[in-house]
Amino acid sequence: MIGTATLTQFNIHQQRNYSVKRGELTLLLDDVARACKSISHAVNQGSLTGTLGAAETDNVQGEVQKQLDVICDEIFTDALIWTGHLAAMASEEVEEVIEIPSRFPKGKYLICFDPLDGSSNIDVNLSVGTIFSILRCPEGIETPQTKDFLQPGTQQVCAGFCIYGPSTILVLTSGNGVNGFTLDHDVGEFILTHPDIKIPKDTAEFAINVSNQRYWEAPVQRYVDECLKGIEGVREKNFNMRWIASMVAEIYRILTRGGIFMYPLDNKIPKMKGRLRLLYEANPMSFIIEQAGGMSSTGRQRIMEIQPDSIHQRVPVIMGSYNEVERVVSYHM
Ligand code: AHG
Ligand code: MN
Ligand code: MN
Repeated sequence: MIGTATLTQFNIHQQRNYSVKRGELTLLLDDVARACKSISHAVNQGSLTGTLGAAETDNVQGEVQKQLDVICDEIFTDALIWTGHLAAMASEEVEEVIEIPSRFPKGKYLICFDPLDGSSNIDVNLSVGTIFSILRCPEGIETPQTKDFLQPGTQQVCAGFCIYGPSTILVLTSGNGVNGFTLDHDVGEFILTHPDIKIPKDTAEFAINVSNQRYWEAPVQRYVDECLKGIEGVREKNFNMRWIASMVAEIYRILTRGGIFMYPLDNKIPKMKGRLRLLYEANPMSFIIEQAGGMSSTGRQRIMEIQPDSIHQRVPVIMGSYNEVERVVSYHM
């Protein structure tokens, strides 16, 4: 099937193989894929449409929004709100849960999304992406509220991200492994190009924003210090370092050749309890990483087992190659 199956064909085959009734999910994923194609186009147009640079607003987290953050949020919402497959939506860029207007039918799923991850990279023409997580709407709930989104990551039905890089690639899991689909711009279809992605258990590459080093806790200080000592230290091998400031790009690299990605707990802004958002970033990426044979933790807890307490909650993130994440977790014990 490699290089020939479209995303829709692949999903229908999976349904047949696992004999599960997931017609509505397949349709929802088609909608998500269509939204990602539109975002890919908007991101690609860049200066041609005058959409680079900052917007005049801050988002709910008090972060400066880029024009494309706002545009991509609208594209994603508009592509999905009318389709009848969702009961409600939650966006990193929007304070409250997005309700489905009464003129549209409602479906049985909830979606959480980061419309444009790594948007600080937009103006410098580096890879950015869209991240999403699909949950079931709790039984009997007609109009989902914030509390209905507060489900641990283990409840995710499906998660994925689309990276807008030299190629546009959609990476998906529904709990049966991880598959990657490259957008054929001429045909307008995502084609299966990376079936059953597995992350190497070991790695010699780490990713962390070292400018925060003085704020880290001791276990992360120790781990990074040992990596930096290389062949002369206890690890007895040299490490390489990467930091793209775009989680989609870091995670895509780790899926491709292994590695460890960390945005750990630090005391830079103590009340923040981490940088990355649980519902829009940490949970969907954890589902993908675990399904690809990697590990994902805050250092003290499996990320997907965290009971969320708010939709915009942030958490520490340590994820990637299994043995390396396990080591960092052991340093926290
Ligand atoms: P977003 O663009 O959605 O706000 O997310 C950016 C995130 C993540 O993609 C990246 O790993 C991290 O923030 C970058 O943080 P620094 O600015 O501290 O490098
Ligand atoms: Mn993000
Ligand atoms: Mn974002």
